[in-house]
Amino acid sequence: MASRGPSEALVIDGRKYRHVREGLATILAPYADDKPATGKHVRNNAEGNQVVFYNPIQQFNRDLSVLAITVYGEGAVLEKEKRFRLKNQHGKARHHKGSTRQQKSSVTAIESSTPEQVNALKRKADDLEQDGSNADPSETASTAAKKPKTTDGLLDEDEDVVVMELSADPAVGENSKHETVSTNGMTDSNAQEAQTTDPATTAKKQLPFTILDALSATGLRALRYAKEIPFSTNIVANDLSADSVQNINLNIQHNEVKDKVHSNLADARMFMYSKVGNEKPKQGPDYVHRFDVIDLDPYGTAAPFLDASVQALQDGGLLCVTCTDAGVFASTGYPEKTYALYGGMPVKGPHSHEGGLRLILNAVALSAAKYGLAIEPLLSLYIDYYARLFIRVHRKPQDVKLLAGTTMTLYNCGHGCGAWKTQPLLRNQPQVSRSGETFFKFSFAQAPVTTPNCEHCGSRQHLCGPMWAGPLHNPYFVQRMLDRVPSLDKKIYGTTDRIQGMLTLALEEDLTLQSWPSEPSTPLETKDTEKGKDKNSDKQADKDKDVSGPDPRIIPRLPPKTIDSSPFFIMPTQLARTIHCATPSEDMFRGALLGLGYRVSRSHCKPGSIKTNAPWSVLWEIIREFMRTKAPIKEGAVKKGSAGWNILARVRGTERAQVSELKDSAKDQFLRCETKDDMKTVLQGMLWRLENEKASTVDSQAKETTAAQSSTSTDQPKEGKDEVGANGGVNGENKSDADKSNPPQQQRRQSRSQSPPAPVPSELNIVFDEKLGKEKHRGKLVRYQMNPRENWGPMSRAGRSKVDG
Ligand SMILES: C[S@@+](CC[C@H](N)C(=O)[O-])C[C@H]1O[C@@H](n2cnc3c(N)ncnc32)[C@H](O)[C@@H]1O
Ligand SMILES: [Zn+2]
Repeated sequence: MASRGPSEALVIDGRKYRHVREGLATILAPYADDKPATGKHVRNNAEGNQVVFYNPIQQFNRDLSVLAITVYGEGAVLEKEKRFRLKNQHGKARHHKGSTRQQKSSVTAIESSTPEQVNALKRKADDLEQDGSNADPSETASTAAKKPKTTDGLLDEDEDVVVMELSADPAVGENSKHETVSTNGMTDSNAQEAQTTDPATTAKKQLPFTILDALSATGLRALRYAKEIPFSTNIVANDLSADSVQNINLNIQHNEVKDKVHSNLADARMFMYSKVGNEKPKQGPDYVHRFDVIDLDPYGTAAPFLDASVQALQDGGLLCVTCTDAGVFASTGYPEKTYALYGGMPVKGPHSHEGGLRLILNAVALSAAKYGLAIEPLLSLYIDYYARLFIRVHRKPQDVKLLAGTTMTLYNCGHGCGAWKTQPLLRNQPQVSRSGETFFKFSFAQAPVTTPNCEHCGSRQHLCGPMWAGPLHNPYFVQRMLDRVPSLDKKIYGTTDRIQGMLTLALEEDLTLQSWPSEPSTPLETKDTEKGKDKNSDKQADKDKDVSGPDPRIIPRLPPKTIDSSPFFIMPTQLARTIHCATPSEDMFRGALLGLGYRVSRSHCKPGSIKTNAPWSVLWEIIREFMRTKAPIKEGAVKKGSAGWNILARVRGTERAQVSELKDSAKDQFLRCETKDDMKTVLQGMLWRLENEKASTVDSQAKETTAAQSSTSTDQPKEGKDEVGANGGVNGENKSDADKSNPPQQQRRQSRSQSPPAPVPSELNIVFDEKLGKEKHRGKLVRYQMNPRENWGPMSRAGRSKVDG
């Protein structure tokens, strides 16, 4: 662990181990031998030859996972409790009314419900059955058989599925008979906040919260989850390797968590598939049927494990996925392999990592869809050299219908200027029925959305994806995680600063939430904790929850139809490189965008990145204006015919720009001609413009003339000049304050015409206002950690680095 210095080596029974402390767990990881390993497998491996895999650099992954599962689990357990209460209420009602009357009343209840409520009721029944099957680790097959069952297959209403008790007394040890909420690395008040119980109550029953560490190696994750997530009840640490399982058992003993953590020797897929179907196979005291959380942390890709894992999760369960094969999901070297593993083509360009996250999500979504399971990404990060995603999986066949409409392909100018255009696979169109209910109509998307060659630089474009087009994160979840960061003990969570930095960036990536730059980020209406927050807010929320809505610990679901309107970031350095000019400072670039009314933030993936809702035509105009006004380039600096050359064909005030504009206009107008006379008029207009327009200014009079001349087909939309001009985006000297505060999207909405939404780039008033673009100072925020440790990176597989012979 970073804060505790290097791990220690020790010898037990003649065998050499590395003794590692991380979080609240300690592990003994065995060495293979003392000889230095050779060959490609030893790259970046400063840890010696390993029998069982351990990579210290992934402490960030593990710290983050403890926090993510804790925040997710608090809400998930509350929801279980609610369902359990409901079940008990139903059960008691049935008990008193007798079975016949009870059947009648449930029929009445279902009859008086909306279809959605009926489904919800059915689902709850399923869930309860599921919870019940997981609930009682102490129940044997024989006792289960003796239990009376109701006719509807639910457990008998008097059965109590509660199996553990939480004590608020931290003095009670981890391994005492009654599970304890002991110090878990959070400060006291927050540790109490982490309980699913009211801290004022000394003891309260707790429902099971189960985790599968499917590819566990030393068992480190399982051990940490056991020790640091107080409400976790049953954790399985599985591995395919007998050496690993032996080591897991040693570590379970060493950490004294045998009540909570159990090892399992199996192929993770076989183990997870054993959970499919056969809903109530009580097999023994520690048996878990479906898990609340499954953590996949394989060597390389997690793709082979996705199908089994989504089915081995409970409804609403959390799938945690690591993929370390960035060379496949975020690089174009092996597109055939990317497709085979993730069902889509990779992206070329600086945004390849965001593309990779979307490809992984696509693979998970498709695995889930065929079983009626819909995915909801809670947090999707690219870290160091790997992807780590936290995905909630809902048993909701009706939401699966929205998947094609939240999946996209991409036309990517990877070999030219780097621009892209997205194309949805299907269109999800919300409709309102006569009774006021919203439903969706699904229609084919028009294709293609662009020309084969890039509209900005003329280079050939390539097809990428299909990939996930929805949001990468649930902002409520990220905010909840962020709110917990100050309570983490830095001595235990060595990567806290980085967690805070990365989560802050991830949260701000959602441009629809942000206010910039003077306002502090208050992205969520329901945000309940802030700097200087009321530490008792959750307790208060507990009291208020019945009157003020759902408990804030329950993570609300994002609408499944949501599409990310700014799916990829851009890099000003790359824009500048394309036209061979100096790069504007980040503040200047941001200032220019903000001045035009667009939104900006960063991406967690890369330093120097900018997320924005500005279209590519505007981005190129900004960089051209920067070159023209601030950083002129030498004649001949850009090769004729290159992407940069074509982009520079529109530098304001040049003859090339005038020619480009005339060409565009001519193309449009000729396409509209229906008679020879129409053509004559257009040609005359062109000639007039050629002779009368000066290159340095745009003669709006002339444009109006040609527009009027070409109005033979009035059904064709004009370019969006009117609306942009009317709303102050053009030559903005006359802009009113109200206009300035309107982002372009709103301006478009106010337009009366059906014109295309894009503004006319050459008419924008671009100001490189560094002051406007300056980020608000937020103290020390570790946004990007370039070298988290010496010799960091992917490591060789365990047991494969022995010297031959
Ligand atoms: C990258 S390591 C896991 C590291 C561990 N999660 C951690 O955080 O320290 C991958 C582990 O997966 C195991 N493994 C590989 N294929 C497997 C499979 N099909 N089923 C179960 N375990 C597997 C390997 O033996 C290895 O221990
Ligand atoms: Zn291009």
